[in-house]
Parts: sequence; C-alpha cells; structure tokens
Amino acid sequence: MEKKEILFDDTIEKIIEQMDLNQEAPGKEPDRQYWYMKKARQLVREKQKELGRPLTFCVNTFGCQMNARDSEKLVGVLERIGYVEKQEEDADFVIYNTCTVRENANLRVYGRLGYLHSLKKKNPHMMIGLCGCMMQEPQVVEKLKKSYSFVNLIFGTHNIYKFAELVVLALQSDRMVIDIWKDTDKIVEDLPSERKYSFKSGVNIMFGCNNFCSYCIVPYVRGRERSRNPRDIIREVERLAADGVVEIMLLGQNVNSYGKTLEEPMTFAQLLREIEKVEGIERIRFMTSHPKDLSDELIEVMKDSKKICRHLHLPLQSGSSAILKKMNRRYDKEKYLQLVEKIRSAVPDISLTTDIIVGFPGETEEDFLETMDVVEKVRYDSAFTFIYSKRTGTPAAVMEDQVPEDVVKDRFDRLLAKVQEIGRQMSARDTGTVQDVLVEEQNGQDPHLLTGRLSNNLLVHFEGDTSLIGKICSVHLDECRGFYYMGTKVG
Ligand code: SAH
Ligand code: SF4
Ligand code: F3S
Repeated sequence: MEKKEILFDDTIEKIIEQMDLNQEAPGKEPDRQYWYMKKARQLVREKQKELGRPLTFCVNTFGCQMNARDSEKLVGVLERIGYVEKQEEDADFVIYNTCTVRENANLRVYGRLGYLHSLKKKNPHMMIGLCGCMMQEPQVVEKLKKSYSFVNLIFGTHNIYKFAELVVLALQSDRMVIDIWKDTDKIVEDLPSERKYSFKSGVNIMFGCNNFCSYCIVPYVRGRERSRNPRDIIREVERLAADGVVEIMLLGQNVNSYGKTLEEPMTFAQLLREIEKVEGIERIRFMTSHPKDLSDELIEVMKDSKKICRHLHLPLQSGSSAILKKMNRRYDKEKYLQLVEKIRSAVPDISLTTDIIVGFPGETEEDFLETMDVVEKVRYDSAFTFIYSKRTGTPAAVMEDQVPEDVVKDRFDRLLAKVQEIGRQMSARDTGTVQDVLVEEQNGQDPHLLTGRLSNNLLVHFEGDTSLIGKICSVHLDECRGFYYMGTKVG
C-alpha cells in the first residue's frame, strides 16, 4: 500500500490557511477540524481586539499517560487558534482532562470546580471545559448539569479529535455545550499536538480496552480496543525523529494485544521491530503490558534490541490466584512468576515495576500474603500500590465481602513498607557503573545540577550544562539515594 506523506507543522498551517470560511465546513476529517481551527482563530482574534489583550488557556491533566498525550492534542489546537498558555488563575479558558479510575481522582475534580467558579466570577470572559474519562459516566454529566451549570463545555474521550469544532460552538454559545459519545470505531490522524518535551514523546498505538478486569472502569469510559494502522504510527515516529525526538513511549492499555483488530493483523513485537528501524530514535519505551498477552516473541525482540529500554511495567494486581480469577485477569500466580523468570533470564539487567491493588472484595489475609510472597520473589524496582476503589457499573462493585477499611489500610501499609524496602535495594544495584542518561531538565532545587533518566527509568542528578538537555550522555553512578542516583558525567 502507498505510504502517506509526513505532515509537518508548517504543512498543517498551510492547509488551515487554505480553508474557505465562506463555504460550509467539509464533512471529511481531519479537513473539517482544519476548517474549524481557522474559524476559531477568527473568533479568538475578535475577542482579543475587544479585550485589548491575548486570550489565555490552561489545560490541567489528571490520570494516566493516555490523558497526558490527549492533553498535548488539546494544547496543540489551542495554541494554533491563538490562545497563549498561562497559569490556571490567569487563564480565560481552563480545561480539566479528568480521570475516574479511582474515586479520589473523581472527587478532586469536584473539589476544584468550586475554586474555578470563584475565578470565573472575577473574570466574566472565562470559559471552563471538562473532558476525559470522568465525562463518559452518565451520572457525572447529570450532576454537572444540575449543580455546576457554570461549566461551558463538556466532551468525552471518543470525540476529542473534534475539539476545534467544540471550541467554536462553546465560543458562540452562552449555554453549556455537551457532546459525549458512547463509543467509536474511528481514529482520526494528522491533527496538531504540542509536545511537553522537545526530545521525548508519547505515541498512541491503540485506544480503548477489551479486557474488562472486574474492578476497572477503563473499558467503559475508553471504549472498545482499536489499534492504529502501523503505517500511521511509523509516519508519526518518523516525523517526531525529524523534529528532534530521541525517546518515544508507545501507549496503550494493553500494548501486548496490539494489532489483533487490524485488517492485516500484526503483533506488538513486529511493530517494535519496525519502529526500531527509524533513524534518530534512540530509546523506545511502552506501557502497559498485560501479563496474559506477553509473548515469547516480545521477549526475544527486547533481548535483541539496542533501543528498547531495560524496563518493563508488568501489573500484578494481586498475587493470589483466587483473587486474580475474581479480577478476571486470566493468569495465575504461577504463570506470572514463570513469565518473570523467562524475562529475567533473557534480559538479566531489566528493571521490573508493577501495579498492585489491596482490598479487592473477598481478599483474605492468606490472599494478601500471596501478594507479599510475589513481591518478595520478583523483587520489583518499584510498585504503585492502590487501595481498591469501588467503581459503579463494574462487576466487582456488586461483589460480596467488601473488605473493611481498617483491614485494608493495615495491609496497604505492610505492602508499601515491603515494596519500598526491596525497591531501595534493587534501585541501588547499578551503583559504581557508567550508564547512558537522557538529560531531561535543569534540576529544580539546584541549578548547577541536571536531571536525567536511565534506561531503567530511574532518575540521576549530576553537574552539567543545560546545553545537554535532550542529549544522551555517559554518567558514572556515584551514589543511590533511595530511588534516584547522584552521578558524575564522564567524557
Ligand atoms: N491497563 C493497565 C492499567 C490501567 S489503570 C493494566 O491493565 O495494567 C492503572 C492501575 O490502576 C491498574 O493497574 C490498577 O492497579 C489500578 N486500578 C484500576 N482500577 C482500580 C480500582 N477500581 N481500584 C483501585 N485501583 C485500580
Ligand atoms: Fe483496566 Fe484491565 Fe483494561 Fe488495564 S487491562 S485498563 S486494568 S480493564
Ligand atoms: Fe484514568 Fe482514564 Fe487513564 S480513567 S487512568 S485517565 S484511561
């Protein structure tokens, strides 16, 4: 099949300029959005003239890397239509890209809406937009309509590509604009986005999730799994490399099932092989790997690769086979441990990290001790530990034997202590060696220091010049302080 042209920013700019606002918006995507970008630009310009100052925006992101990447797309559109980025307090357009994976993520948003309302009372031009996973829950939108009528724009995860169109609607309306889709099979390519870092970027390889782990709301708010066409992914990676990006993070809820729904199926391992060929890309990361779908082929590719980082995030969730069954994870304790063994023997220096949930319905002390046992056997470099949170609409929410709060808290504290003790020991194991470090930024506390990342994802602070930001250099790891290193640049 024919290869499509790589669209650089200036090409997108030319296409937007060529749009004719005297004609109706085109029906085809992404052209329709380019037309709306031009229209939005006109409206923003008019408003700026009226106010005698530029219009400002702030996008605030909650949740995972998927949301972070989506926010870059929102920022890309806002900057293109003439908004200037500012702090929340000084913004004419504040957008919250929300998460609902646990209840506290959800509560934080309601808490902050009260504060945004007070800002809006002081700035009558201010617009408030809400998007992301929380908006895919019908009861959330009902509550917002009833009690938070000062919100201007609400949209969901499936129609984020039409953000330019929604901004135009919101700018022209004095009522709440709501556009939520239940699901989609659509993927729109070639829309602008603005990277947070010049030298690294997330790249979506798939959207949605089909796994329905019984505790998890993601499949309901992100819809069915769909993979991007490999040609579009490679085209994006090539464009990023040409633009100075050296590290990419491939994103999906379960990257190991990439390609299954494509017309010409392709495995994740095959995709990695193709991406590895892109010149200029030095480091490849990916998230998240579901243990049930991690193939021998992938382990083989990781073993042979010069670019794939020595880090694997492999969510365990629970070490108890009985709980894993109730979670619908489709692996058991033995299978998980065998998988870890296989990975460690193929890639001995790999750093393993994980996610663990404590207090899933029906979890007994014995089940919990199985989790502790896996933590001791695998010896993770670090682990995200979560208290089980009941999500309405998921099978686990109506399971019997919800575990009492004090029991969960006690288990959580014991798990965290264990995870940290082992994590400290594991993190220190490269002390005294020289490693490649991708320099990310000037250190926030000490401007003489730079902060960079090792292949295994740990941070290193060392003395150096800011001209090194975005470059890979060799650093001697002098001392490990808990979960980061102090180092010295060599050569
Ligand atoms: N797709 C990824 C996880 C995405 S959600 C995967 O399958 O690994 C990130 C993490 O949030 C999950 O790994 C899980 O540990 C946690 N999580 C999800 N739902 C939760 C819930 N209801 N309560 C507590 N933690 C939850
Ligand atoms: Fe949630 Fe499971 Fe899908 Fe991960 S794989 S997003 S935990 S349903
Ligand atoms: Fe949260 Fe949605 Fe990610 S619920 S964890 S932002 S996919």
